[in-house]
Amino acid sequence: MTTNARPLSGRTLLVTGAAKRLGRAIALAAAENGADVAITYRDSAREARAVVGELARHDVQALAVRCDVTDEKNVQEMVKEVASELGGIDVLVNNAANYDTVEFEKITLAQWDAMFASNTRGPFLVSRAALPYLRKRRGRIVNMGSLGGLRPWATHAHYCSSKAAVHMLTKVMAKALAPRIAVNAVAPGMIELGEKSAAAFMKKMSKQTPMQRAGTAADIVAAVMFFAASPHFITGQVLAVDGGLGL
Ligand SMILES: NC(=O)c1ccc[n+]([C@@H]2O[C@H](COP(=O)([O-])OP(=O)(O)OC[C@H]3O[C@@H](n4cnc5c(N)ncnc54)[C@H](OP(=O)(O)O)[C@@H]3O)[C@@H](O)[C@H]2O)c1
Repeated sequence: MTTNARPLSGRTLLVTGAAKRLGRAIALAAAENGADVAITYRDSAREARAVVGELARHDVQALAVRCDVTDEKNVQEMVKEVASELGGIDVLVNNAANYDTVEFEKITLAQWDAMFASNTRGPFLVSRAALPYLRKRRGRIVNMGSLGGLRPWATHAHYCSSKAAVHMLTKVMAKALAPRIAVNAVAPGMIELGEKSAAAFMKKMSKQTPMQRAGTAADIVAAVMFFAASPHFITGQVLAVDGGLGL
């Protein structure tokens, strides 16, 4: 058996909200695997420029485009620009999202709507705009869901509901867009990204996790890379990457 050191060579990936954290890690792994990569950012222009520099070191095409994923026109323009710069889109990773901790009774209408706008409307809008390009290439969509979309977290009603909707959107799109496009989701659990303020919480959650640790960016990247290159026959799946915490 031969292994391809650059399994995404010749493919193009679009990752939303990838100037930092998990999105950045996904984009870098895709470039390392040989893909041309477009990232989007909203506020993090400086970080996005730095990521483009890092991507280009892997000898691939790289670009960053500003996009608010809640804005239909902005999304359409961004997708058009990415497809024209990279010559098409093979894999879309809907990563951009927001997270918030608010007691149930204190969630305002604005907070509820903003959460659904970025976390649920966003992936819908970007996916819909990317369809013509993904269809041409027999492409793939990978949505970033959450363990919070599979399990109820009392102080995250808006976030959990928005991610549960993303999981259902994944399944609906898998059916609606077959056989040309495969659609799957990765649902991260507790992921350690080096935030000092979260250290105590991570330690507590690690004890409750069967695998006895928090997840890492590498754990999530591995799952996204799998769906980015997996057989097209694998579609409509929501893969929890949570060390067994959700069991
Ligand atoms: N980290 C975790 O432990 C964890 C756990 C479960 C699920 N997830 C999911 O995994 C994905 C990545 O997680 P993360 O923690 O790395 O994400 P994050 O840092 O919370 O957000 C990623 C990026 O989303 C962008 N964004 C937010 N609203 C946007 C909008 N309206 N338009 C465009 N971009 C917008 C921001 O871009 P700018 O900075 O450029 O504004 C932000 O940098 C998310 O979908 C998240 O819900 C993460």
